[in-house]
Amino acid sequence: MTGINLAEVNFFEDQSTDANPVKENAATAHSPAAAKPIDSDQPAVKPTAATETTPAGNAARVHAARGPIDFNRVIDRRGTHSSKWDNIAKLSGITEPDAIAMWVADMDFAAPAGVTEALSAEVARATHGYYADTGTWAKALATWMARRHGATIDPAWVSPTPGIVSGLGLILQAISEPGDEVVLFPPVYHAFRRIIVANDRRILDCGLVESAGRYAMDLDKLRGQLTPRTKVVFLCSPHNPGGTVWTREELQALASFCAEHDLILVSDEIHCDLVFAGHIHIPTMLAAPDIADRLITTVAATKTFNLAGAHVGACVTSNPVLKKKLDARIAACGLGSYNLFGMTATEAAWRTGESWLDELLPYLQTNRDLFDLGIEHAVPGARSMRLDATYLAWVDFSGTGLAPSDVAERIASRARIFASPGQQFGPGGESWVRFNFATPRPILEEALARLGDAFADLPRR
Ligand SMILES: Cc1ncc(COP(=O)(O)O)c(C=O)c1O
Repeated sequence: MTGINLAEVNFFEDQSTDANPVKENAATAHSPAAAKPIDSDQPAVKPTAATETTPAGNAARVHAARGPIDFNRVIDRRGTHSSKWDNIAKLSGITEPDAIAMWVADMDFAAPAGVTEALSAEVARATHGYYADTGTWAKALATWMARRHGATIDPAWVSPTPGIVSGLGLILQAISEPGDEVVLFPPVYHAFRRIIVANDRRILDCGLVESAGRYAMDLDKLRGQLTPRTKVVFLCSPHNPGGTVWTREELQALASFCAEHDLILVSDEIHCDLVFAGHIHIPTMLAAPDIADRLITTVAATKTFNLAGAHVGACVTSNPVLKKKLDARIAACGLGSYNLFGMTATEAAWRTGESWLDELLPYLQTNRDLFDLGIEHAVPGARSMRLDATYLAWVDFSGTGLAPSDVAERIASRARIFASPGQQFGPGGESWVRFNFATPRPILEEALARLGDAFADLPRR
């Protein structure tokens, strides 16, 4: 076994790679943003005569000044209050110091340089008083969504919340009553379940169906499950786990279903920017403009730019009645004054992070391919769903013939990897495990080597 000591991972810091996989990847060329100008009326660095003429010059300059980003650089996150790394022993029971974190959805890469600069400027000023929302944050979000996804968002539709999950809780409080049912399409992001139950609402599970290697919703089945208490649908778009990018037709079918049955549709699009070449995320508000009155979209910069600890998200609705109810809940919880650092970081990300994202996506895509190939080779019978989006590999171990508890034991004890057990994601997830591959390649390769060792006794087919 080729065990790396993650306590010494700074070893990798100086190992820059010539083979930066970013430059010619098709994802960059096909990015919906590729040909459009960038909005950056808050420059991350001072313009020079050569670059100040167009707003696009700013992002281009930030990028050119730094050169390609080295996503292979390993940053030791232990001892930094990183939940992903510093909660391993507490949450998984894996106590070995070389354990690898592949669970919660944050990345092991440094955030875009423009974010660091904005935060550094704030730190240097050293006057961290209450944040004044002058409208630039929602404008930055709207500009980003227009550029990357072709969605028109009026900043007046936007309510910032301390993250998406808290936003979902506030939405439930605003638009439903205790005892009401919220439709989920499991297996699905586990915090949906948690926040519904914590708000005394009930989960109505309508399991996804796997067809041709991707998930699909079964709305006919759902029709038969509805009760008079069913009020809300939580859609995860793109879907976590499984990485499904929903088609326009699928989104329209769900939207029509919601209209037909008088349901509010909450479309959580936090993963919307993490979409791989060959796939395009369609915001629900674009796919189904006719249900705008019953739609709330949640988006954030935190997943895209690795700022999860900033804990800032946005709830977006063009329906002023829904917005007013939501804002009343936000006010009732004293959440109408926003976190200065989170707002600063996320606004800077939308304004300056585009070239970083365009480099990240092909790196993640190569990690996805390496992981899929690697795990299917390392573990006979394992099958990794081909992700259209997200950096969360979703692996079915049912073909190994092992019980889920045996699979879990091998991953945790033998491989010393903390991954997310599939049952967390609700019905349909029992034989699956989710692995976060948004990590530098040296760590990914080590994880794959360990998984190979952990399942080495399985017969080859
Ligand atoms: C679908 C989905 N929504 C929301 C979140 C978390 O959002 P936040 O940290 O802003 O609460 C995640 C994190 O993985 C997610 O996958």
